[in-house]
Amino acid sequence: MAKASISAYFGEHAVDWGKHYQGTSVPRRMFNGIFRRALKQRWDLTMKHALPAAGKTYVDIGCGTGEYSIALGEAGAALVTGIDFAGPMIDLSRRLAEARGLSDRCEFIAGDFMKLDLGRTYDMAIAVGVFDYVADYEAFWQKMIALSTGVIVASFPGHSPVREPVRKLRYRRKGFPVYFYSRDQLESLANSSGLAKFAIEILDGGYFLVGFTG
Ligand SMILES: C[S@@+](CC[C@H](N)C(=O)[O-])C[C@H]1O[C@@H](n2cnc3c(N)ncnc32)[C@H](O)[C@@H]1O
Repeated sequence: MAKASISAYFGEHAVDWGKHYQGTSVPRRMFNGIFRRALKQRWDLTMKHALPAAGKTYVDIGCGTGEYSIALGEAGAALVTGIDFAGPMIDLSRRLAEARGLSDRCEFIAGDFMKLDLGRTYDMAIAVGVFDYVADYEAFWQKMIALSTGVIVASFPGHSPVREPVRKLRYRRKGFPVYFYSRDQLESLANSSGLAKFAIEILDGGYFLVGFTG
C-alpha cells in the first residue's frame, strides 16, 4: 500500500531530511542553493504568512523533523501540533523540541493526517512538501481548511519535462507514486473550496497556495 511505503521511506530517511536544515555541510548547502531553491522559498513564504507567531496556534501537517513547528514555537506560538505518519520523523521532532525547551508548546503526533481527529481548530494550517505524496489532494486540502480559522498554506510540485519523469521513476522504484500539479488545477481547487480569498505564488519547480478562510 502506497501510504505504508511513503511512511517507511520517510522513516528511513528522517535523519537525512533533517540535514536539509541543520548542521548542513558546505557541499550540501551549495547543492541545496542550486538545486533545492524551493526549500528556502517555501520556508520564506510560510513564515511570511505565519509571523508574528506570538499567541497563535498552528498545525504543521507532514511536519518531518519539525523544523517549521520548532521555529514557530521559538517565535512565541501558543501551540504547534506537528503531525507525521513516519514515526522516526516524530521522534526527531520531539527530541528537537525538548532540546530547545519547547515541549510545552510544540506537540507531535505520529499518524496519518487523513485519519486523525484533532478535536480543535488552529489559526493556521501548514503542509509543506507533502502534497507530492497525496493521492486525494482535494480531500486533504478540504480537511486543512476545516482545521483552520485563518490561513492555510501548502506547496505543490509543478509539472516539468525533466524533473517530473525522473522523480516519478525514482519513487516508483521505492513503491509509491509522486504527484504533480498545474496552476489551473490549483486555481480550480482553491475556487471550489469556499475560501474567502486565495493566492498562488510561483516556486522554483512548483506552486505555493495560500488560502484565507475569513
Ligand atoms: C518531504 S517531507 C516534508 C517535511 C516538512 N514539512 C518540511 O518541509 O521540512 C514530507 C513529510 O510528509 C509526511 N506525510 C506524507 N503524507 C502524510 C500523511 N497523510 N499524514 C502524515 N504525514 C504525511 C511524510 O512522512 C514526510 O515526513
